[in-house]
Amino acid sequence: MTPATMKAAVLTGFGGPEVIQIAQRPVPVLKANQMLIQNQAASVNSGDARIRSKTVPKGYKFIMSLVFGFNRPRTEILGTVFAGKVTRVGASVTKFNPGDLVFGSTELKMATHSEFVAIGEAAAITHCPDELTPAEAASLVFGGTTALYFIEKSDLKRGERILVNAAAGSVGIAVVQIASQMGAHVTAIASSANHDFLRENGAKSCIDYTVTNMENLTDKFDVIVDCLGTIPYAKHHHLLNKQGRFALVTGTLAEGLAAPFRSVFGMHKIVSGTSFATRASLEKIVKLATSGAIKPIIDATFTLDQIKDAHARIDKCHKRGNFIVKFRPRPK
Ligand SMILES: NC(=O)c1ccc[n+]([C@@H]2O[C@H](COP(=O)([O-])OP(=O)(O)OC[C@H]3O[C@@H](n4cnc5c(N)ncnc54)[C@H](OP(=O)(O)O)[C@@H]3O)[C@@H](O)[C@H]2O)c1
Repeated sequence: MTPATMKAAVLTGFGGPEVIQIAQRPVPVLKANQMLIQNQAASVNSGDARIRSKTVPKGYKFIMSLVFGFNRPRTEILGTVFAGKVTRVGASVTKFNPGDLVFGSTELKMATHSEFVAIGEAAAITHCPDELTPAEAASLVFGGTTALYFIEKSDLKRGERILVNAAAGSVGIAVVQIASQMGAHVTAIASSANHDFLRENGAKSCIDYTVTNMENLTDKFDVIVDCLGTIPYAKHHHLLNKQGRFALVTGTLAEGLAAPFRSVFGMHKIVSGTSFATRASLEKIVKLATSGAIKPIIDATFTLDQIKDAHARIDKCHKRGNFIVKFRPRPK
C-alpha cells in the first residue's frame, strides 16, 4: 500500500544549504500516463546547488529567477535524478510494470529528493540493468548524459586530442572516461590530488590548475571541454587547432549568445546549450556502462537527513564524480 505522505528535502527559500529542510509531503497523485517510483537512490549535484543558491554564471540570474522563482522557490523539492522500484502505474502506462527497477531524470520537473517520484512513461526513464545497483545507475545520469551531449556536439573523433577542464567532477570524469574509450588522447585539468584518479579513468596527461597558467600553455587540442568556465574561449582559443571545437559546458550568457556567431565567422566551432537527459541518452549510458566503457564514480553517499552536508560540500567545488542520497526502505 502506498502511504499518504513521504519524507522530502524541501527548499524553504534561496541561499545556503540551511534553506533545505526535511519535511513530510503528500505522495504525488498519479496521472494516467505516469508511474510512481519508490526512490532508492538519487544524485545531488551542481545543478541542485545552483538552483538552491542561484549561483549562476554572469547573465543567467534573471532567467534562473523566471524559471525557478524570484523570492520563493517555485519548485519545493529539488533533485532531478532517481533510481528505484515502480510501485504503481497509471491506466495508460504500457512499457513499465510494478516491481520494475528503473532509473532516470525528471529534469525541470525535479522533485527527486523525496521517497516517491511521479514520472511519465515517455520521460527520461529506463530499466536499471542487472550490472548496476540503483546508486550506481543514479550516479551515471547527470554527468554521463551531459558528457555525451557535449562530446557528440563537438564531433570528437578517435585519435583527436581533447582538453577537459574540471575533469574530476561529475561531468568532467564522464567526459574523460567516454573520450578515452573512444580512442581520443585526453588531457585533464584538476588539482594534483586528482591526477592518479584521472589517469585510472583514462587521462593520458594531467595539468594542475594551481601551478599552470593555461593562458601560457603552448599545447594544441582538437576539442576543449570547459566544465567550469575558468578557461574562457576568448583567452584560450590559441590552444585549439584549426577546425577545433570548444564545448562551453559552463559559460556566461554573453559567451553563450556569442557562440553561434563565433562558430559562423570565427575559426572554431563553439558548442553550447543545455543538456537534458532523454530515454535515448539513458539507453546509451546503459550500453556504455554494461560494456565497461564508463564506470560509476561515487565520491560519497548521504541519507536524506544529511542532504545539507552534500550541498555544503558541492559548494566547495572539490567533489570527485558524484554524490548519492540513499533512501532507507520504509517499514512495512
Ligand atoms: N550545460 C549543461 O547542460 C550542463 C549540464 C550539467 C552541468 N553543467 C555545469 O557543469 C559544471 C560542472 O558540473 P559538475 O557537476 O561536474 O561539477 P562538480 O562535480 O561539482 O565539479 C567539481 C570539480 O571542479 C574541480 N575544480 C574546482 N576548481 C577548479 C579550477 N579552478 N580549475 C579546474 N577544476 C576545478 C574540482 O577538482 P579539484 O578538486 O581537483 O579542484 C572538482 O572535481 C557546473 O558549472 C554545472 O552547472 C552544465
